[in-house]
Amino acid sequence: MRPGAVGDQVNGQLRAALADVEGWLHLDEAEELQRMVRDHPLPKDQPITVLEIGTFKGRSAITFALAVRARGAGRVYAVDPHWGGSREGFYNNISAAELNDVIRPIELSSSDARSQIADGSIDVPYVDGGHEYEEVCKDVADWTSALADVAMVAFNDTHFPCVHRAVKERVLSDPARWSRPHLVRSTLFLEYHRDATAQEVAKASLRRLTTVLTLRRMSGAIKAVLPRPVGLAGNWVSRRVVG
Ligand SMILES: C[S@@+](CC[C@H](N)C(=O)[O-])C[C@H]1O[C@@H](n2cnc3c(N)ncnc32)[C@H](O)[C@@H]1O
Repeated sequence: MRPGAVGDQVNGQLRAALADVEGWLHLDEAEELQRMVRDHPLPKDQPITVLEIGTFKGRSAITFALAVRARGAGRVYAVDPHWGGSREGFYNNISAAELNDVIRPIELSSSDARSQIADGSIDVPYVDGGHEYEEVCKDVADWTSALADVAMVAFNDTHFPCVHRAVKERVLSDPARWSRPHLVRSTLFLEYHRDATAQEVAKASLRRLTTVLTLRRMSGAIKAVLPRPVGLAGNWVSRRVVG
């Protein structure tokens, strides 16, 4: 791939919206954040709720808000106390992008903001606030109860040793609930399933499906010489095993 090709694939609307917004979020990470909203299994006629911990001047908030608007309805809670002076830039940027109706700023630390958000209400959480080990651990501990039964989750800057350790110990250690991890640059994307049993059932079903498909592929070679009842019995077993 030629240099810059990743950026070239980013949709023009996103690229234009972020062009003058200061921050560290790369365009390919931003596209993946938008995919979390776009592909979330929540029915499309239901409003989707995004929580962002750590907003700075609004790069990720704008990214999410555009995806929410494209999907239909929903909101983006943008949690940041703006201790470092990013407040004015943030408000200017979301106004310039005309996204004030989608973004709900909460000017508090993440732990103080928690009481403002209902349990089980967040479909897409993005963790990019304090980057110390204790801060990330606390964000996971405080906010897990705020997640919907199924959530698409992202942690930024997992190449930072403190963030990496916290995510490894508090998230990746529970693969029954936090599954399908993948990285875009240093942003880790996962799915959260509150019901670990359902996840295990789904995984077992997937394993059975994989086995059946493999057996069917192998049997294809000898299918022509098998008696018809054997083939029919094989189909019946496949349906029972996968179903
Ligand atoms: C890396 S920046 C966020 C970048 C932003 N997501 C973007 O796309 O540009 C981290 C932000 O987290 C905020 N922050 C630090 N500690 C926090 C805390 N305990 N709760 C909420 N936000 C916090 C800082 O004020 C800072 O603006």
